[in-house]
Amino acid sequence: MLHRAVVVGCGAMSRVWLDAAAQRSDVEIVGLVDRDEDRARETARSRSLATATVGSDLTAVLAATNPDVVFDIVVPEARAEVVETALTRGCHVLSEKPMAANLDEARRLAGLARAAGKHHVVVQNRRFIAPVRRIRSLVASGAVGAVTSLHCDFFIGPHFGGFREEMDHILLLDMAVHAFDAARALSGEDAVSVMAEEWDPASSWFQQGSSAVAAFRMRSGALFSYRGSWCAEGLQTSWEGRWRIVGTKGSLVWDGHDAIAAEIVVEPAAGVVASGDLLRPTRVLDVPDLDPDAAIGGHAGVMRSFFEAIESGRPAETDGASNLATLAMVLSAIESARTGRRIEIET
Ligand SMILES: NC(=O)c1ccc[n+]([C@@H]2O[C@H](COP(=O)([O-])OP(=O)(O)OC[C@H]3O[C@@H](n4cnc5c(N)ncnc54)[C@H](O)[C@@H]3O)[C@@H](O)[C@H]2O)c1
Repeated sequence: MLHRAVVVGCGAMSRVWLDAAAQRSDVEIVGLVDRDEDRARETARSRSLATATVGSDLTAVLAATNPDVVFDIVVPEARAEVVETALTRGCHVLSEKPMAANLDEARRLAGLARAAGKHHVVVQNRRFIAPVRRIRSLVASGAVGAVTSLHCDFFIGPHFGGFREEMDHILLLDMAVHAFDAARALSGEDAVSVMAEEWDPASSWFQQGSSAVAAFRMRSGALFSYRGSWCAEGLQTSWEGRWRIVGTKGSLVWDGHDAIAAEIVVEPAAGVVASGDLLRPTRVLDVPDLDPDAAIGGHAGVMRSFFEAIESGRPAETDGASNLATLAMVLSAIESARTGRRIEIET
């Protein structure tokens, strides 16, 4: 089936989306919308989308093009209105993160999608990278035992300019959302409570919330700790962060690039009583290669799962209704940092 897509938001991220769409033979970009119409026009020109309808008013472009899908790549503050407009006009929506500014808004959008019978899928592209898939299947196999804690360190000093330097809670809302979603994907469980702090170093070039620490309790009782800063020059971590997962049998570390290492305790042979050694002997655990059927590809991978959901009628892995649990982690961490209290997480 050939899908007719309207792109809303022709800023930096739209390039990645248009690259992903260009890899598919079943997507035609029929409209480009940006509140700055020159940007939409420039995108049409640079992408040779001469037949696409260009405009600054989504409703008018939807009426003119009659698409079945909308790609929402606008700044977070404009998201809810764009998603609502698209859903109420009968379009499936693939939407950038964060899904919404607050949980009521997110629930409302998920409810609108349900009522309209349309798919509303959120771009949590970090799930769709090979190391996350490999770790997730190793953890799910039980090879490191039951997960007792996950830890993520994220330290980078990017000078973006634009909306990120003007938004409050910027690290938690715009970046940590990926790590929090990855923690759900890697552990296979949702978070139930959080204690968090936000801070801004004196040298910060962000308005508020450039740096944060958060400690989540997952449903099983496992702890997920996150330490992050966007005001950390030098010795940067990867954009995925550096991870350690501790299980009842052993541990796994991931540098956030391609290096994954795991070790588990060597069980004493039957009948052999363990000695009083301080540390138990361990052995390296092979981390299996990527399952050839694993869904990967970053934005292209999320886009594939979006179209598979439309074709199959089954919800995508990052469907809005499921993504509520990720957004709730972000918003509860913000609430904890604001109030200084542990926050129970509700979706
Ligand atoms: N998933 C990822 O890895 C990832 C990475 C970067 C950015 N993002 C997300 O992508 C989104 C866009 O980020 P960006 O870096 O492209 O921002 P950007 O500022 O470069 O572009 C956003 C565009 O949206 C337009 N816009 C704003 N309000 C609009 C409205 N009501 N109608 C139409 N257009 C409107 C702006 O004019 C701008 O051109 C954000 O939500 C951001 O968090 C995701």
